[in-house]
Amino acid sequence: MKKIQDVQQHLSQNSYRWLVTGAAGFIGSNLVETLLKLNQRVTGLDNFATGHQHNLDQVRELVGEQAWQNFTFLQADIRSPDDCVRACENVDFVLHQAALGSVPRSIANPQLTNETNITGFLNMLVAARDAKVKRFVYAASSSTYGDHPGLPKIEDRIGKPLSPYAVTKYVNELYADVFGRTYGMESIGLRYFNVFGPRQDPNGAYAAVIPKWVAALIRNEELRINGDGETSRDFCYIDNVVQMNLLAALADSEAANQVYNTALNDRTSLNQLHAMMCSLLADQFPHVAAHKPVYVDFRAGDVRHSQADIGKAVSMLGYAPTHRIGDGLKEAMNWYVRNLSR
Ligand SMILES: NC(=O)c1ccc[n+]([C@@H]2O[C@H](COP(=O)([O-])OP(=O)(O)OC[C@H]3O[C@@H](n4cnc5c(N)ncnc54)[C@H](O)[C@@H]3O)[C@@H](O)[C@H]2O)c1
Repeated sequence: MKKIQDVQQHLSQNSYRWLVTGAAGFIGSNLVETLLKLNQRVTGLDNFATGHQHNLDQVRELVGEQAWQNFTFLQADIRSPDDCVRACENVDFVLHQAALGSVPRSIANPQLTNETNITGFLNMLVAARDAKVKRFVYAASSSTYGDHPGLPKIEDRIGKPLSPYAVTKYVNELYADVFGRTYGMESIGLRYFNVFGPRQDPNGAYAAVIPKWVAALIRNEELRINGDGETSRDFCYIDNVVQMNLLAALADSEAANQVYNTALNDRTSLNQLHAMMCSLLADQFPHVAAHKPVYVDFRAGDVRHSQADIGKAVSMLGYAPTHRIGDGLKEAMNWYVRNLSR
C-alpha cells in the first residue's frame, strides 16, 4: 500500500505515459492537469460530446508551456475500435473517464448511452489489453448500488440498477472483472459518488446539481429541487477523486481487479447543500439571501440516499481524502464566481 505522498514522489522520479480518456471533460481535465504538473507524459482523448476545448485551454494556462509540451491530444471516439488502439500505443496507465453521464440522459436515449458506455468501454478494454498497459483504471459509479437499501454503501452489496446509465456502469465492472480472469489484465474500478469541482459544466439539460445551482444563484434564476429536498448524497470534491486515480494506478497487484468507493462517508441533503451554497455566495451576491428554491417532483431513476463506506479504499489503497464538502465547495465556488462572471 502506497500513500499519495509516496505516489507523488515516485512519479516525480519516474516519467510514465498515461492515457486519459474524456480529457476535455470535468474529471478528465483535472486528471490531465495533475499528471502534467507531476511531469508525466499524457495523451488525452475526447470527441467533445460533452467536453470542451476551453477546459484544455485552462489546463494549459495552469500547467505552463513547458509541461504542456508533454501533452498530446487525440480528437477521437471510443466507439471506434481503431481510435482506441491508436490511443493506447506505448501507454503505461489508462485512466478511462470517457462516457455519457447523467441518469436522465440515459432514460431519454438508452441506445446512445449504451454505445458509448458499454461498446466504447469494451473497445478501450480490448485496446488496453493488446497494448499490455500496466493498469486500467476506470470511472465506475455509485449508481451501481441501485435499489439496495443499505447505508453506508459497501462495495459487495449492490441492488438492481434503477436506470440505463446504472446498467452500463455495472456492465463495465463485469467486463473489467472478466478481463482480469480471462486475460490476466489488471484493472481498478472507482465508484465515484457525486463529484464536483472546477470545470464541471454548469450548462445544458443534464448538468450536475452543484454547478447548475451555482449558475442559477449567481444569475438569480429559478433553482429547482427534485422532491422534498431531503434526498441526500455523498458529495466528493475533485481532488479526492484525482488522488484515488493516482493511488489506483500505482497500487500493488493485490489491490487490482476490485472496485472502490470514491467519496467521503458523509451525507448532505439537497436542502443542506442549498443552504451551504447560499451562505458561501451571500457576501458577493446579496440577492442570494432572498433566493428561494422551487420544489418539483422526484426524478425517475434517482436513489433517495447515498453515502459511501470508504474503509476498503482507505485500507487497500491508502486513500486519505483531503477535502470534505465544505472545503470543496469553497474552492469550487471561487472558480465558478471567476468563470461564470466572465
Ligand atoms: N461527475 C460525477 O459525479 C460522476 C459520478 C459517477 C461517475 N462518473 C463518471 O466519471 C466519468 C467522467 O465524468 P465527468 O463528470 O467528467 O463528465 P464529463 O461529461 O465532463 O466528461 C466525460 C467526457 O467524455 C467525453 N466523451 C463522451 N463520449 C465520448 C466518446 N464516444 N468518445 C470520446 N470521448 C467521449 C466527453 O466529451 C467528455 O469530455 C464518466 O465516466 C462518468 O460516468 C462521474
